[in-house]
Amino acid sequence: MIDLRSDTLTQPSRAMREAVLGAPVGDDMYGEDSTVIELERRTAELLGHEAGLFVVSGTLSNLLGVFTLVKRGDEVLCDEQAHIVRAESGSHAGLHGITTRTWSSEGTGIVDAARIEAMISPRGGLLTATAAIEVENTHNFGGGNVQPYDNLVAVNELARRHGLGLHLDGARLWNAHIATGIPLAAYGKLFDSVSVCYSKGLGAPVGSVLVSNREAIAKARAQRRALGAAWRQAGVLAAMALYALDNNMARLADDHAGAAEIARQVMDAAPGVIARSPETNIVVMSTGSRPAVEVIAAASERGVAISAVGPTTVRAVANLNVTFDECVAAGKALREVFAR
Ligand SMILES: Cc1ncc(COP(=O)(O)O)c(C=O)c1O
Repeated sequence: MIDLRSDTLTQPSRAMREAVLGAPVGDDMYGEDSTVIELERRTAELLGHEAGLFVVSGTLSNLLGVFTLVKRGDEVLCDEQAHIVRAESGSHAGLHGITTRTWSSEGTGIVDAARIEAMISPRGGLLTATAAIEVENTHNFGGGNVQPYDNLVAVNELARRHGLGLHLDGARLWNAHIATGIPLAAYGKLFDSVSVCYSKGLGAPVGSVLVSNREAIAKARAQRRALGAAWRQAGVLAAMALYALDNNMARLADDHAGAAEIARQVMDAAPGVIARSPETNIVVMSTGSRPAVEVIAAASERGVAISAVGPTTVRAVANLNVTFDECVAAGKALREVFAR
């Protein structure tokens, strides 16, 4: 089976596992795990922020990042297809009392500052006060789309003008960086907090890092403890994330080429299934009048595993454990499925 359900399914390589053996570890709750400290320091430096916090998942990293920007009862604005509203189990509301209000980007996930500005409710009025904006780059359910840099600059300017916090869900910011060549720090400096994941395209088994200023990271650290997610010798995981950072970044371009190949074949056979060619590693496909489950079953019969992201939307994600030749084969199989 060529497994394109997600880039989170990757198996750590032997070399990645071996990186753990030599890593010094300690009790992270005592601030004594030097491998964790190194990962946090390097991630913050890459993104141009003061400090970092290594956590178990992108969901927790987003949860804590937004928590540092928004008070209980306040509102966060984000895309209607944002991971924080569609796939984080209501945790921002349930655990931190945060309301979300969403804008539509017609499925692309691309931000538009004017559209966001029109939604802001000022503090002190009748309406729930807007406290922050959340942006995703790349945009997962939008099809791995890369946010145009100028759009991000415009959102940054409007957030400053209105005194709003700005959080970036950069689970796949690495892919945006590789696709555009824009330095990570150029993205990082536009946001108050950024979450990046090591367990997606970079292929580490576990872990995300939240970066922000020192005060916000101290607050996030305390809240992580309150949520029961502080940990001890987490350096065994940080070592694999460091290995991923040093060895698996440039090869993301291979995933982008694989996704482009899959999309090329499907678009060729069935125009309209894919709204626009993928810019990174995710191919989102509309199943039209057929239920997603039926298309997933047909792909599976041809040896390709894809996943549903809606009742009539499926996703294929090129990843570290799939070669370009396998992407060619998967494209051929999906072409047959969609051309039917
Ligand atoms: C855009 C985005 N943000 C956040 C997450 C959450 O990451 P995790 O699964 O590690 O909680 C994901 C997971 O796929 C994601 O795609």
